[in-house]
Amino acid sequence: MSPRSLQTRLLLTFVSLAVIGLGSVSALSGWRLTAEDFAHNERDLELHARLIADALREPLRQGDRGNVASGGRTLDALVTSYAQGIGGRVTLLDPQLNVTLSSDSTVPVQVQETHSEVTAARDGTLQSAIRWDEWSKQERMFIAAPVAERGQTLGFIQVSVPTAPIYAEMQQTWLTFLAIGSIVLLVTVAASTWVARQIAVPVQKLTTTSEQIAAGHLEKRVVPSGPNEIRRLGSAFNQMAERVQEMVAQQRVFVDNAAHELRSPLTGIRLRIEMLQTRGKNDAELTQHYLGQMEREVSYLQRLVDYLLALASVENRERVMPKTSLDLARILFEASDEMGAVVHQAGLTLETDMAEQLPSIEANADQMTILIRNLIDNAIKYTPRGGTITLTTSASSDEIEIRVTDTGIGIPPEQLPHIFDRFYRGDAARSRDPSLRSGGGAGLGLALVRAIAEAHGGRVQAESRVNAGSTFIVHLPLHK
Ligand SMILES: Nc1ncnc2c1ncn2[C@@H]1O[C@H](COP(=O)(O)OP(=O)(O)OP(=O)(O)O)[C@@H](O)[C@H]1O
Ligand SMILES: [Mg+2]
Repeated sequence: MSPRSLQTRLLLTFVSLAVIGLGSVSALSGWRLTAEDFAHNERDLELHARLIADALREPLRQGDRGNVASGGRTLDALVTSYAQGIGGRVTLLDPQLNVTLSSDSTVPVQVQETHSEVTAARDGTLQSAIRWDEWSKQERMFIAAPVAERGQTLGFIQVSVPTAPIYAEMQQTWLTFLAIGSIVLLVTVAASTWVARQIAVPVQKLTTTSEQIAAGHLEKRVVPSGPNEIRRLGSAFNQMAERVQEMVAQQRVFVDNAAHELRSPLTGIRLRIEMLQTRGKNDAELTQHYLGQMEREVSYLQRLVDYLLALASVENRERVMPKTSLDLARILFEASDEMGAVVHQAGLTLETDMAEQLPSIEANADQMTILIRNLIDNAIKYTPRGGTITLTTSASSDEIEIRVTDTGIGIPPEQLPHIFDRFYRGDAARSRDPSLRSGGGAGLGLALVRAIAEAHGGRVQAESRVNAGSTFIVHLPLHK
């Protein structure tokens, strides 16, 4: 593999194809045209020779050179005017092939002509010949024709023209071909360069941008350009880069939040250990107090780690998560039963309006339990005493719908879009309002609910009015 660039390769391919194609077509047509040109000149000369031979028959028969010939002109004048007419030389020979008269004064008279065209004429054929002419010192094309009447040869005429103009004409043809060829080649080179650039430049840009992204500049994008396919590649590349950047940003936020959430309880525990080491030795009450606080911090840490692990397992093992055909109604009844005591303890009422039978769905039982518990847990945490929590299910032909409604504090509209984000906690949760049981939340519950719903091909949405209550609706498709 030679290291040449894509652009150079494309260009070389286009140009060599053009040169081969154009070259062979021009050579062939040029050769044919010049050959025809030559044949045409030969035919012309032959025709002229016949015509002149015909025209001279009468004057030759009538008399000698110098006599008044047809139309009152001498033979000499006639020959000269014919020669002028064809732009060449006309020579008259007697039956013994001796030159008697020539339009060209350099040709000596009384010299016997023995060249091939003349001997051919004597034998009754017309044959052209090209050779160096010793009298005019140039190359000429010759042809000779007999002047005969009723089988009797009166003489011969030899006609010749210089070949230089014929060659000049042929050269002109070749030059024209060369000029057209060069123009076409230039256009081809320009067009090929353009096409090659159209392909190579965007590819080059994609490569550079990929390298930059690989080097950590995740914000780099390409401007999609070039032919359709390459432009689509550019757009797809941008989308991919966008997605990667988003994912990295999410991971970063997640790690930052997780570190932050883990740090504060750990600091709390360390501080209390230090206090106990210095002051707690003789103070049983203080020791008890700190131990109780530390236990709460540890259980918070435990919960946090459980959540993080659950989230990671839902997101990472989405595809391999074991799912079985599930009776969701039973799971929901069990969960509401189990949480009944907590609800009661919180001074709340749990109402259920659930179908005894739900169509079975392919789902993971543990995750479904986590999902429903989290929603009920939130309803408990964010509903003041005396409120009601309602659990409703319904099924349509293509999905199961689970609703958890409470009569709690509600969620302000500006917070609603964020409640499913990891580590997002509303004001009420952050203030750790003692009247509510919201303390200790990490803001991961709803993130987990959403991850589980999505891992089952479903979705979750929330509707809420401040001080009136909230409803969380989970849609789970029956068939994926
Ligand atoms: N039923 C609800 N009523 C009012 N606000 C709610 C309700 N459910 C959730 N929220 C709001 O949404 C936020 C996010 O809920 P999420 O369950 O993710 O976190 P959390 O309950 O604060 O903590 P965690 O569930 O991790 O213990 C909560 O902090 C709260 O502000
Ligand atoms: Mg929660």
